[in-house]
Amino acid sequence: MQLIVFKDHHDLSQQAAEEIIELVKRKPGAVLCLASGSTPLLTCELLVQKARAENIDLSSCTFIGLDEWVGIPPENEGSCAYFFHNQVFKHLNFSSSHIYLFNALSDSPQQECKEMDNVIFENGGIDLMLVGVGMNGHIGFNEPGISFDLYAHVAELDETTTSVGQKYFKEATELHQGITLGLKHLLESKKVLLLANGSKKAAVIQKALEGEITNRLPASIIRRHPNSTVMIDEEAAAMLKR
Ligand code: F6R
Repeated sequence: MQLIVFKDHHDLSQQAAEEIIELVKRKPGAVLCLASGSTPLLTCELLVQKARAENIDLSSCTFIGLDEWVGIPPENEGSCAYFFHNQVFKHLNFSSSHIYLFNALSDSPQQECKEMDNVIFENGGIDLMLVGVGMNGHIGFNEPGISFDLYAHVAELDETTTSVGQKYFKEATELHQGITLGLKHLLESKKVLLLANGSKKAAVIQKALEGEITNRLPASIIRRHPNSTVMIDEEAAAMLKR
């Protein structure tokens, strides 16, 4: 694991967007997996700007959404699907047949998970996974206590996740379950970028990077990945001791 501390959210987002662009230049058929949320928002904006400025063709890439709120339709502005459509797909030439997002309304979420696992295996694995970290140390919807050995699965959401998650929705929304790639997908991804910004993430970043590697703090798994980069700003790095 490599740690890079940037001055601010803009600088780390710029670097993250650059890494995606460089990967696609090297490997036009790259398999990308992104989280949604506040942290990667600026990365997505800068990715759109850079890809347009440099005329980057993303039509051969495969795009995989990291997770989704079970029961929340894609038209809801708090869904991960809404985020990706608005921030990424409508601005860039991803091919719709190469976009894979969890269907949160599926009658069989277990089947959704199997299909997503198959998509990843059939496409040769994830080349780049870009994740954020929750206030409880989750990655995707891999909540505290989850096994490091799971692929896609349905998760019962932690109280922290359901309350912090309200920030994405216009009105109070009942959130109970998530559907998510598992930490085994993260471990098997060829490259992982973990992003965090702001002072509110400082405590969880300190625990993830300097505490025990444990499923009680899923983000600590990032230290088990041989090709991971933790990209944080000075505020998120403020509680690191070393
Ligand atoms: C969202 C996701 C979540 C977020 C995490 C941090 O797709 O996978 O794990 O990355 O909750 O959220 P923000 O970036 O909004 O602080």
